[in-house]
Amino acid sequence: MSSSTSTSSSSAAVPIVTIDGPSGSGKGSLCQMLARELDWHLLDSGALYRIVGLAAEKQSVSFSDEAALAKLAANLNVEFRAGQSGEPSSVLLDAEDVSVAVRSETTGTLASKVAVYNGVRDALKDLQRGFAKAPGLIADGRDMGTVIFPAAPLKIYLTASAEERANRRHKQLINKGESVNLAALLEDIKERDDRDMNRAVAPLKPADDAILLDSTGVSIEDVFQQVFDRLKRQLF
Ligand code: DC
Repeated sequence: MSSSTSTSSSSAAVPIVTIDGPSGSGKGSLCQMLARELDWHLLDSGALYRIVGLAAEKQSVSFSDEAALAKLAANLNVEFRAGQSGEPSSVLLDAEDVSVAVRSETTGTLASKVAVYNGVRDALKDLQRGFAKAPGLIADGRDMGTVIFPAAPLKIYLTASAEERANRRHKQLINKGESVNLAALLEDIKERDDRDMNRAVAPLKPADDAILLDSTGVSIEDVFQQVFDRLKRQLF
């Protein structure tokens, strides 16, 4: 992920592709493949909410104190470092490498809790829009097409059944050497979907002009090809 703190006064001319959808739909992998293929910037907006959740926990900020969480989000001391030659990118919070902690299931749940607050979402808006830089941006999240980049010329909403998403996550965690119960993962995914889709502010839903794709039973390579073909037709 590239980092930036500037706002997006010049973002109008920059092509932006938004990819929204629930966790486990494959959007993270899809976004990385697209950004790599095109050599465009990548915004992993979920990582920002994860970092706020992690920072709140570290600083013992209450998850029911919206004002304190918003203040924390507005003053994040965060740095993203692009990975060298195929290495994954790293995230530093207060100069500490939190790349592994940021991706954990526990941090995902913390992220989903701080993400319900308008104050937190507002505090992260400019930071997110600052990622829109030439030659282009792939924006990965829940509200990229609806709230952050409503004028994006190509919007994708990628989904998959909850069962398939839990299975994919289960495989990923096993590959990382973590032992997680599949039924508990499925329960967690459904709870998080419910919180993300039913929150009052910026709920997870497709933009009116988004293209809906269901990746259930479809390989990530096929999803990539479909989106890439459309992107080439529409933007080049
Ligand atoms: O995509 P992810 O699993 O890293 O996201 C973690 C949580 O952050 C997710 O449950 C909802 C929240 N989120 C959000 O509300 N808006 C975004 N644009 C991205 C993530």
